[in-house]
Amino acid sequence: MTAPSSVRWIVSPARAVKGVIGVPGDKSVSHRALMFGGIADGVTTVEGFLESEDCLATLRALRSLGVMIEQLDNSRVRVEGVGIDGLKAAEQPLDMGNAGTAMRLFMGLLASQHFDSILVGDQSLMRRPMERAASPLRLMGARIETRDGKPPVVIRGTPDLRGIEFKMPMASAQVKSAVMLAALRGSGVTRVTEPAPTRDHTERMLECFGVELQREGSTVSLKGGQRLRGTHVSVPGDFSSAAFFLVAGCIAEQGTVELRGVGMNPTRTGLLDILRLMGADITVSNLATRGPEPTADLLVRPSKLRGIDIPVELVPLAIDEFPVFFIAAACAEGTSVLRGAEELRVKESDRLATMSEGLTALGVPHRLLADGMRLEGRFGPGPVFKAGRIDSHGDHRIAMSFAVASVQADGDIEILDTMNVATSFPGFAALAGECGLIIREYPPSSRS
Ligand code: S3P
Repeated sequence: MTAPSSVRWIVSPARAVKGVIGVPGDKSVSHRALMFGGIADGVTTVEGFLESEDCLATLRALRSLGVMIEQLDNSRVRVEGVGIDGLKAAEQPLDMGNAGTAMRLFMGLLASQHFDSILVGDQSLMRRPMERAASPLRLMGARIETRDGKPPVVIRGTPDLRGIEFKMPMASAQVKSAVMLAALRGSGVTRVTEPAPTRDHTERMLECFGVELQREGSTVSLKGGQRLRGTHVSVPGDFSSAAFFLVAGCIAEQGTVELRGVGMNPTRTGLLDILRLMGADITVSNLATRGPEPTADLLVRPSKLRGIDIPVELVPLAIDEFPVFFIAAACAEGTSVLRGAEELRVKESDRLATMSEGLTALGVPHRLLADGMRLEGRFGPGPVFKAGRIDSHGDHRIAMSFAVASVQADGDIEILDTMNVATSFPGFAALAGECGLIIREYPPSSRS
């Protein structure tokens, strides 16, 4: 049997990127639709669900907690909510796989139960910091233990949590969401204030489930003791998945790419603002609303990009897109600088170090900083990246970003450890292939 870490890609140069495609459903929204559906009264149907390894970890965990979930097909799910008091103890530790969002949101959901839970994950997740969610939950009265700040997370269920006023020390939608989920079953009002705007899918979706919350500036408040009403959730295309095609379309020499039905929540589209500031030719049309989330179609053309000093307020709004941003910056005329992004060091991999290692292998001049990177880009003629070998360190977004670099490479790029692409974007290689990228997977598989 092949070890998962030995799955790799060889990506050959492609100059034209073109096609009309839809990207799979949003990962953040899919996790929340399952969780909120699970604790709602009545049935929730989800359409556009992302059937990725991360979201399936959430699905399995909810089943272990007694929620009946039926997968109607690969993008439609029916959840029979057990109500806010209806979860039951799982028999085994809950395995969150690679999913940081699942682990931190479940910490909030399980802290207030009348039973104990243990949360574990894969090698990458077992190295990630969990105290950022545990410590505000403890202020609410929760009893949670971590090991040196990391998983396993042991939760001693405490049904009588109390509301808190919490000023978050860091911008994190996962921490904000964990506190809000715990607050639902707590007493009194909880107020969470964030230092900078982060994705607000929890706020938008809770309102769809009939929960009342107040949003004033950077503070969201929520009264405990509210029940959720089952509903229908329509999941938009994931902007973070569209990001790979936005950059590929910009750095290509020919072709246009049209992306249909992409989520356009302004707390997610920082990369679009960044690329436009760099001179990208991207047109937005057909703005619509799908349930709580706005969507649009995006048309991307080859663009003459220039380097950028990233405005710091855009960092949380593009937090998952910096790996592929560095690929765009390498193909832009002049210097690009990212600062204030130390958070990237504790994602699925240390994304600053992993990208720096890969950019070095492909001959891109840059300097790694403690909280970002300074990179010297070059806009044609001729390819920007040398052929070479990249270790993705099992990080899905690193693997896909270097696949995009093939559009401006002078030879094959070998990308190691690509199995985890399925955590967020199953089918990436096939969809990228439809747009002209040339990705071969080894060992060959029917599923890419
Ligand atoms: C997410 C929040 C972000 C993001 C992650 C998904 C979410 O993390 O990086 O991929 O769904 O709430 P932080 O909360 O750590 O910023």
